[in-house]
Amino acid sequence: MSGERDYVLGTHDEEIDRLGLQHVVWRPRALDAWRRAGFTRDQRLIDFGAGPGYATVDLADIVGPNGQIIALDRSRRFLDRLEAVAESRRLTQVRTIEIDLAATVPTEGADGAWCRWIFAFLPEPRAALERLAAAIRPGGRLVIHEYLDYATWRLFPRSVAFERFVEAVMESWRTDGGESDIGPAVACWLSELGWQIELQPIIDIVSPENLVWRWPSSFVTVNSERLVSLGRLAGEDAAKACADLAAAETRPGTLMATPTLLEIIAKKPR
Ligand SMILES: C[S@@+](CC[C@H](N)C(=O)[O-])C[C@H]1O[C@@H](n2cnc3c(N)ncnc32)[C@H](O)[C@@H]1O
Repeated sequence: MSGERDYVLGTHDEEIDRLGLQHVVWRPRALDAWRRAGFTRDQRLIDFGAGPGYATVDLADIVGPNGQIIALDRSRRFLDRLEAVAESRRLTQVRTIEIDLAATVPTEGADGAWCRWIFAFLPEPRAALERLAAAIRPGGRLVIHEYLDYATWRLFPRSVAFERFVEAVMESWRTDGGESDIGPAVACWLSELGWQIELQPIIDIVSPENLVWRWPSSFVTVNSERLVSLGRLAGEDAAKACADLAAAETRPGTLMATPTLLEIIAKKPR
């Protein structure tokens, strides 16, 4: 797609659908974290790395028509999708800004921000976090969902090919300048900046009929071909990982442990 500044997972239609399914799985935990952080009516909140804006729309419902959600992302394609949904739902409180978050955060005095799976992709995450922290008012809140340990993502009984796929994903993010397991570093940096932090690791172990299974399994389907085309995984290894996953889905007694996420709720000093 000409002009689109792609990132490692791509901005194609299948990725937009995958992010939608991912949000359906993670939505209850996001809503719970936002409630505990005190996100509420009439606030001005940033969705930092909003993507196609699935969470942005939920945040817009929380702040209501007199609040504002500033959705920041570098992908025009993702923001187009969000703008279309916001227009069809008459969510005039949603404002989108196409921006490289590795360079700047174009707002100030916000009541809070939501960040999910964005610091993992930024080449200088600490500098980006400091810019975001400066854009929040004293006493404001950050809610962050980033990975703590991506390598906990496994099938039981274990599959060597599947675990090789997981390693290739982590390696591809690192080669692209990111870091999959950025969560703990973000928590340390916020502490050093004087923010009060609450931390919670989140991992699920589920069987194939559980909706949660669909989130990681859709990632394999959408991204195995991409990893092969980027030269990060051999074709036969990708095929074996997909075959082992498909076999696991029909074998009684199979379980999957998800990548472990770190939830951070942080309060800026007054
Ligand atoms: C895994 S998606 C997560 C999207 C959204 N936060 C969610 O939870 O559905 C990562 C997002 O980071 C964005 N992104 C990656 N690098 C970026 C950068 N340097 N500046 C702005 N956005 C970036 C991508 O465009 C993509 O929307």
